[in-house]
Amino acid sequence: MRVAPRIYYKGTIKINCNGNQIDLPAIDLSLFAVKVQNKFLDICKNFQEVSIHIDLDKETVLKGKIFRTGGDHAVILFNEDDEFIAETIGEFLTREIERTGVCPYCKTSLNGDSKMCKGCGMNLDFTNVHIVKALKEFRLGKLISKVVEENGGIKKEEDVEFIGASKPMKEVFKLIRKYATTDYPVLITGETGTGKELTARAIHERSLRRNKPFIAINCTAVPPDLLEAELFGYEKGAFTGAYKTKQGKVELADGGTLFLDEIGDMPLDIQSKLLRFLQDYSFERLGGTKTLKADVRIIAATNVDLERAVKEGRFREDLYYRLNVLTIKLPPLRERGDDVIIMAQYFLEKSAKELNKNIKGFTDRALEAIKNYTWPGNVRELINVVRKACVLAKGEYIDVDDLSINVDKLSVNGGEGINLNLEENINKLEKELLEKAFRISSGNVSKIAALLGVSRPTVYKLMEKYGIGRIEEKR
Ligand SMILES: Nc1ncnc2c1ncn2[C@@H]1O[C@H](COP(=O)(O)OP(=O)(O)O)[C@@H](O)[C@H]1O
Ligand SMILES: [Mg+2]
Repeated sequence: MRVAPRIYYKGTIKINCNGNQIDLPAIDLSLFAVKVQNKFLDICKNFQEVSIHIDLDKETVLKGKIFRTGGDHAVILFNEDDEFIAETIGEFLTREIERTGVCPYCKTSLNGDSKMCKGCGMNLDFTNVHIVKALKEFRLGKLISKVVEENGGIKKEEDVEFIGASKPMKEVFKLIRKYATTDYPVLITGETGTGKELTARAIHERSLRRNKPFIAINCTAVPPDLLEAELFGYEKGAFTGAYKTKQGKVELADGGTLFLDEIGDMPLDIQSKLLRFLQDYSFERLGGTKTLKADVRIIAATNVDLERAVKEGRFREDLYYRLNVLTIKLPPLRERGDDVIIMAQYFLEKSAKELNKNIKGFTDRALEAIKNYTWPGNVRELINVVRKACVLAKGEYIDVDDLSINVDKLSVNGGEGINLNLEENINKLEKELLEKAFRISSGNVSKIAALLGVSRPTVYKLMEKYGIGRIEEKR
């Protein structure tokens, strides 16, 4: 799918290039450029500024720049501000799309509603300057990613720190840009610390909703019995302690994006409520009778295999299909090649600055260890390791001993970086299963016992052992 809409346009345009008038047969027209046949352009230099006369039902003149693509064709990029583009080319494209009744992106028939394609979700009102702006920034996004490539993958802007020059990450960036133009739910999967929340934010920030709130809720961090109130809000007196009416995250995200983190851990009863909400975006606050509406885009993330969760009855199949329309799978750090080195250096520079320490870089041995380690905690672990190393480092270079990755353990474990200690692993698994059962059953001990296939006293013992079941003040 391309970002800028393009339509077939077979008129002839005139350009004024260094005082010469040239007639050029056009091939197609997009919001930001017109494609023409190259052979008539001999007397113009590449990148030359020209004025373009084009018949958009009425004669229109725009400034532009020639850009030869190498083959039989050349592109003349419009060099005008967004308002002017919306009024001229935007208006023409919108009218043409309305006339043909076909979406320029996915070719779906528009069936009456010409402003929004039901097939791909793209907004087709190019007279709207905000849409023109958003699409233009997308194109810039592409250019930026090229610059990023040339600079080894680092964008230096304060607010953009999404690093990646490896092939799988370029794919991710591509999807982020594509998905940002639609309003469909997005499902982001990936191990912990791979950047799922960062990805969700990146989509939001590139979407038309970017000036509205991005609200995140972590389904694991909120105790199960509070999750519904947290999501949909509550009315005064809805339950003991509800002293005043409170808006839920859904309401707070109105007009923007709601990020549901760790959705795989959402209890089944809340899943049903979310599904109902996704049907027509209406909901009631807890204890409320009035049906409210919220215009939100849902982005969900999970580090569990949802398909398996569906098979095991822990996740609603209908909700899974509803969310599984547009997906992004974030690769683990160990599959991103040299990105790990680029990132380590980037985070080092950042931490050193924060700590006001004069640290110049890593030793070769340290870099080798960073490259070979498997980073089970992914980027989050890398950030922590680098930060700690910066705090501990005595010299100008960080050596392998400053890194809290256990190199000895790596070699003992065949360089896999996996902890094979049986007892530690059994404990870890036991804790995980208990936490899951606790969430699914909303803390009901009999249900937990049934799910785990153990007695109630055993459940109590395990809860005590792992400190699960005490409702902590998380917020
Ligand atoms: N590609 C990346 N470039 C820069 N920072 C990243 C990248 N991926 C993740 N991070 C950082 O790593 C940390 C963990 O990312 P997060 O999005 O919270 O992961 P997840 O939600 O998958 O656990 C955050 O501080 C985030 O900013
Ligand atoms: Mg997260």
